[in-house]
Amino acid sequence: MANPSLLILAGDGIGPEVMAEVKRIIAWYGAKRGLTFDVSEDLVGGCAYDAHGTPLHDDTMAKAQLVDAVLLGAVGGPKYDGLDFSVKPERGLLRLRKEMDLFANLRPAQCFDALADFSSLKREIVAGLDIMIVRELTSGVYFGEPRGIFDDNEGGRVGINTQRYTTNEIRRVARSAFELARKRNNRVCSMEKANVMESGILWREEVTWVHVNEYPDVQLSHMYADNGAMQLVRNPKQFDVIVTDNLFGDLLSDAAAMLTGSLGMLPSASLGVPMANGRPKAMYEPVHGSAPDITGKGLANPIACILSFAMALRYSFDMGDEATRVETAIETVLANGARTADLMGPDGGTPISTTGMGDAILAALDASL
Ligand code: IPM
Ligand code: MG
Repeated sequence: MANPSLLILAGDGIGPEVMAEVKRIIAWYGAKRGLTFDVSEDLVGGCAYDAHGTPLHDDTMAKAQLVDAVLLGAVGGPKYDGLDFSVKPERGLLRLRKEMDLFANLRPAQCFDALADFSSLKREIVAGLDIMIVRELTSGVYFGEPRGIFDDNEGGRVGINTQRYTTNEIRRVARSAFELARKRNNRVCSMEKANVMESGILWREEVTWVHVNEYPDVQLSHMYADNGAMQLVRNPKQFDVIVTDNLFGDLLSDAAAMLTGSLGMLPSASLGVPMANGRPKAMYEPVHGSAPDITGKGLANPIACILSFAMALRYSFDMGDEATRVETAIETVLANGARTADLMGPDGGTPISTTGMGDAILAALDASL
């Protein structure tokens, strides 16, 4: 059988720095576990704009469609703030999500015990937290038409975006959430604003339809997304799987990130429909951004990006044991006190560098053999 293939798009800012540590883990798998990936690399975001005048070259898009999984670092930076909207770094990322049809975005928020005191919330609220946010990623207000900035014919302008969801779009992401719940604690909470939005009413009805007809064994509840935001910081452990739309998912997952101690800890998987080889179209990326303020200083935490690779092992390559190996290695180094700058707790300490964290994780992987 052919080696599993990966396309690495490290992107901008700290993207290349954290991805460098993932490449070391990939090399470790080749050397120590006889697991060789065919790895290619390309540009996305601002660096692609610098090279080609577009945040995602068509050739890169075509490559992404052919590999088993894309690993993405981060896109964007102040240098690109002035660019026209159509060529902003984020457009590259959004094009990948849309054209690969990666409709289910899995954002687990897990609080490692060693970090429970680092959250802005009290230890007892977050210790042991393990929730999964499933964010719809290819539709909603991010992509709905009409959109744009127009003259309002009264001497002013009007900015328009459209929240739009179809039956099929809602049902397929709901199925992803129910499937995940069956492998976890069997509970799904669906979040929308059915009190003010028709698209929210449809969302609630279609999620309920999937529940009644296909997953009656899973517990389903509904919550307005604003209440959901409050409940996430009030009592996050009440949730198992949360399923929500593209924009609410963007907001709720950033809030959930802070429960875990640092945005530098959160991985994500974006999954689409199965390809001919049975593997889903897939892209894996940390939830954090390009962090221009710390770029090039060796301060970035590579854990979110490494955990994203672990998700690739689990969801693209069906290697749950190997994913657990990587996750356990990370748990171990955190328990042993390894901390990047973002993980400086209440009592300070000396942070290690991005590479230092990579070293520690590799040593823990060696010890796991
Ligand atoms: C995310 C990010 C992106 C989004 C940006 C970079 C376009 O915030 O993945 O959460 O809004 O989806
Ligand atoms: Mg976001």
